Formats: sequence, structure tokens, C-alpha cells
Amino acid sequence: MKKKSKMTVPMLVQMKQSGEKIACLTAYDWLFASLLDQAGLDLILVGDSGAMVFAGHETTIPITMEQMIYHTQCVSRGVKRALLIADMPFLSYQVSQEEALRNAGRFMKEGGAEGVKIEGGAPVAETIRRLTDMGIPVMGHLGLTPQSIKTFGGYRVRGKDSGEAEILKEDAKILEQAGAFAIVLEKIPAVLAQTITNSVNIPTIGIGAGSHCDGQILVTQDLLGLFEEFKPKFVRQYTELAVTLRDAFSRYTDDVKQGSFPSGAESF
Ligand code: KIV
Repeated sequence: MKKKSKMTVPMLVQMKQSGEKIACLTAYDWLFASLLDQAGLDLILVGDSGAMVFAGHETTIPITMEQMIYHTQCVSRGVKRALLIADMPFLSYQVSQEEALRNAGRFMKEGGAEGVKIEGGAPVAETIRRLTDMGIPVMGHLGLTPQSIKTFGGYRVRGKDSGEAEILKEDAKILEQAGAFAIVLEKIPAVLAQTITNSVNIPTIGIGAGSHCDGQILVTQDLLGLFEEFKPKFVRQYTELAVTLRDAFSRYTDDVKQGSFPSGAESF
């Protein structure tokens, strides 16, 4: 049965305590956000993945604050029930805590977001503390953090060796202590995600992190089979929308070329 009451940060944290799984997806525009919200998603993320699946960039790095604010405004018009979180883009929170606070505040004041997401562990803990102290809910993001893709050198699974796994476990506790209300765990071994999930009192939201996380998130365009550039192993594709859409566009093109569209019934 679909829940009716508006999702809040405390409700999300409570879902971990009660063992109810948290369903999350990304959105970048009003139409998709409306459909996700009507379908009963608990959390909608305006991901900086929009740089890739919406804008066609190769990484998430180029997307700007202004572009993310615009996407957040569009999405917020379609969201009635889900918790709406906006991704802070590369360099919007790393330069100084003041800049991070100003930018995070813009997502709430101008974008209509109810919180922000920030990538990274110990190095961003003080920033998360500052934001949460000022009333801005923050979601952490550990593991394969796409804004660091140039440092990682590729999209391989993170935390496979014991050294990196230890850092991730430590980082999760640091983010919780800093006041984060949830943590995205991206592309790490399922057993490591399970250990982290059991070690913190805030929800973990997995993407390529196995089934033991408190919730799951995917990029909506991946789930729909709309983004065909690459298909990560962790994606479950529920439909093949790119095929369906290409077919519709090509039939329309044929109809126009053959003069069968518009028909008499479609004319005035
Ligand atoms: O940018 C994004 O969409 C994300 C999620 C996939 C977690 O960070």
C-alpha cells in the first residue's frame, strides 16, 4: 500500500529502526519527478548524474550550481510526498565551509530541496557538521564517489582491499557523528556494505552495494533502459524505453514523410 503522509528526514531514519526498506531514485525534471512521486518513492535525488544522463557529459564534474538549482526547481514542482534531496555539484562545497553553507542554503531557498548530498568521508566531515548545525539536512556518499573519478582513474569497485575497506568503515562513523542523516554507499562489496549498515544508526542507501543496505537508489534513466552509453552490472533494467521511444519517433517520421499524419480526424 502506498504511504500518503509527506516523507521527512526523521521518518527516513525511523524506517531503518523499523526495518522498512527505503526506495530512492533520481530525477532531473518535473514530469519524471511527478511520476516517481505518484509511484510512492520515499526519496527523490536530483543527482549530479544529470550531467551525464540529461546533459550528455562524460562525467558528473562539469555540472554547475546554476544548472543544479534549475533541475531542483523543476523536480520540486512535481514532488508532493517524497523527501527531495539535491546533489551538491563538484566545487560547490570543497572550497570553504562558508561557500558550502551558501550553496546548500540556495538549494533549500531557491530550489525547494529538503536537504543536500555531499560526496566524501573525513575531509568533508567539518563541512557536514557546519551545515547540519545550521539546519540543513545532509546525506553522505561513500565508495565510488563519481566526482573523484579522475583520482580513481575508473569505475572499479571500491573497498575491495582491507585498507580501503577500513577507511570506508571509519568514514561512515565519522559522517554519522558529523550529523549526516543517511549515507549513500556506491559500488562496494555487499559484505562491507552490510558491516557499515550494522555499524551506524542512520540509513545506508546502496547503489551497487548489495541487498543489506537500508535502502536502494538507481539512476532512473538506467532503470528505464533509456541511458545506453553503458550498463553497470548493479542496474536492474525494468523496461527498454530507449527502444520503445526510438520506434515511436521513427514511425512518426515515416507517417510525416508518407503524408499519413495528420489525418482528417487530426485536422480542423
Ligand atoms: O548523482 C547521482 O545520481 C547519485 C546517485 C546515483 C547516488 O549520486
